[in-house]
Amino acid sequence: MSSFDLESYLRTQVERVESLLRSRSEEQGTHVPARLLESMRYSLLAGGKRLRPVLCLAFGEAVLRQSQVSRVVEDCACALEYIHTYSLIHDDLPAMDDDDMRRGRPTNHKVYGEAMAILAGDALLTDAFALVAGGAEPVRGMLCRELAVGSGSVGMVGGQVLDIAEDRPARIDYLTRMHRLKTGALIRAACRMGVIAAGGDADALARADTYGEAVGLAFQIADDVLDVTGDAASMGKAVGADAAAGRFTFPAVLGLEESKQLAARKVAEAIAAVQPLEPRDGPLAALARYSVERRS
Ligand code: IPE
Ligand code: IPE
Ligand code: MG
Ligand code: MG
Ligand code: MG
Repeated sequence: MSSFDLESYLRTQVERVESLLRSRSEEQGTHVPARLLESMRYSLLAGGKRLRPVLCLAFGEAVLRQSQVSRVVEDCACALEYIHTYSLIHDDLPAMDDDDMRRGRPTNHKVYGEAMAILAGDALLTDAFALVAGGAEPVRGMLCRELAVGSGSVGMVGGQVLDIAEDRPARIDYLTRMHRLKTGALIRAACRMGVIAAGGDADALARADTYGEAVGLAFQIADDVLDVTGDAASMGKAVGADAAAGRFTFPAVLGLEESKQLAARKVAEAIAAVQPLEPRDGPLAALARYSVERRS
């Protein structure tokens, strides 16, 4: 049993992320066409667990051994949520998963129309890189690359493509690769970026990499499991949608129990990797457990 108070930690960190997102999106807001800004902020400021920015801040703090982090770490945290929000807007489109509810409200295209939803996603994606590149620190270039690798053709977008491929084999190795890319890659980037932005060494980066890889996979397995076992009110999105649409998921291929066991093994792997970075009951271990034990 962990003595770390995850609930109060998450309350503080999520509030911090919300306030950073509000201020960064206000800073850039003045010159943005009003309807575009409204559509971007509709999805960006709709809540959500903020796991990727929280992981980025947590790794930054673990490296610095203090809760005060630089603006570079904070910019990375915001940029990760910009990218994640864009991916959700596009994932929900009729051409993709065709979902009506997200974060407890109608999906972006239901409110603003498909064209604006596509453009709001495009803008969030592009603006994310302006956030990471927006300062004189030389490390920002490397961070842009990390974000691109996590979100682009060798990361999240590549995984989304594997997910919609019509000739995909119902094999566990394909499914694992797909999950690693579509969700794991951005989570892994969040962990790596926290370390790099805080000036961590190669050992810390390797540990963040192992942790991010394992938590990233576990997180998407849990997403698939929650689509079977969760309830729509806590999730803020439809449940049962994967099965109804015949989607390619871990419970569908491996069964529910084996999927849960695999996710739990990944969490244990992640926790073991970061042990030297924090005392056993720290935020990194707690966040790894939360990635699969969550109810939303
Ligand atoms: C949902 O992500 C989509 C996946 C990548 C599984 P989250 O479960 O992090 O969604 P929010 O940000 O909390 O809404
Ligand atoms: C989405 O996976 C992964 C993304 C890159 C957005 P899902 O399609 O399973 O996400 P949900 O269940 O709609 O949130
Ligand atoms: Mg999808
Ligand atoms: Mg979806
Ligand atoms: Mg899902």
